Amino acid sequence: MVYSYAPLEGITTWWYRQVFARHFGGIDRFYTFFLTPRYGAVMGRDLRELEIEHNAGLAVIPQMMTNNSELARAFVTEIGEKGYREVNLNLGCPMQTVVGKQRASWFLGHPEELDSFLSGLFEDVKLPISIKTRIGFDDASIFPKLMGIFNRYPLSELIVHPRLRSDFYKGSVDMKAFDIAYSCSACPVAYNGDLFTPDSIASFRDRYPKVEHIMLGRGLICNPALAREAEGGERLRLDEFVHFHSDMQDTMREVMKGGDIYLDRMKEFWWYWCRLFEDGERLVKDVKKARKSADYNRAVDRLFANARLRERPYFL
Ligand SMILES: Cc1cc2nc3c(=O)[nH]c(=O)nc-3n(C[C@H](O)[C@H](O)[C@H](O)COP(=O)(O)O)c2cc1C
Repeated sequence: MVYSYAPLEGITTWWYRQVFARHFGGIDRFYTFFLTPRYGAVMGRDLRELEIEHNAGLAVIPQMMTNNSELARAFVTEIGEKGYREVNLNLGCPMQTVVGKQRASWFLGHPEELDSFLSGLFEDVKLPISIKTRIGFDDASIFPKLMGIFNRYPLSELIVHPRLRSDFYKGSVDMKAFDIAYSCSACPVAYNGDLFTPDSIASFRDRYPKVEHIMLGRGLICNPALAREAEGGERLRLDEFVHFHSDMQDTMREVMKGGDIYLDRMKEFWWYWCRLFEDGERLVKDVKKARKSADYNRAVDRLFANARLRERPYFL
């Protein structure tokens, strides 16, 4: 099984990937969060994500989000020149700011525009293109039609997160819709969504033996050993998590500079990590209150001294 780290804006930055890989194995590929081609060039923070030294030693697939096929082609060419071997197209992002600009999941409610965008993109594209999609905008009955469109293009892979745009991350995944992709996709199908424990990954694999790639998101932020555990490896240990946390803190402080600003970002991670511990919500309260590094360190030390890892970390 190939396990990949899902693209997660605000989480899976270049330095996070490096810290993660220093402490945990089990992940074969990492996707960048969505990068936005502008006038054919890679700019700003997107550039930092793609610097080859920042991704040294890792298989990284840049993800792009655009509705302009000419910009998309130029972006793919530039990515290829930097040495990357594949680009992933984001057709899933549900955020209103994105949908309002007719990007990502907007296309799922506009099949003609999707077809014409893909036709422009595949006219002359320099790298293999995979797609990460949801199953529709606000109605899953469109999914067979979307599959018909995807099947007309030489995608390297179709990664399906079986929710509608209108679901955001609520409710349960629609496995009936995933069955459609599984049975009729012309290219390999990968799965993404709500796999938070080794058991749920095992059940998924029993039900869909032809799927060779599972993309993990929130479950992996919470439990960085999830892929290892899913392959029968050792359960997450507190001591390795403590080292991982300390490396994250040092790296983030160095990358973000600006005094204690990095603490806000650490706290975003704690929203996921508190699920690792018995009574985690309570234990993490002082960590979330800390505004200075010294208070943060004291709160974290106290937490680690009292924490017990849950028998089964879970996300939802
Ligand atoms: C905070 C956050 C940021 C995300 N950013 C991206 C993104 O940049 N590109 C993308 O394709 N999906 C993005 N997603 C969606 C995830 O990649 C993934 O599809 C979703 O979390 C479902 O998988 P999971 O249940 O394993 O978490 C994001 C999700 C979250 C929660």
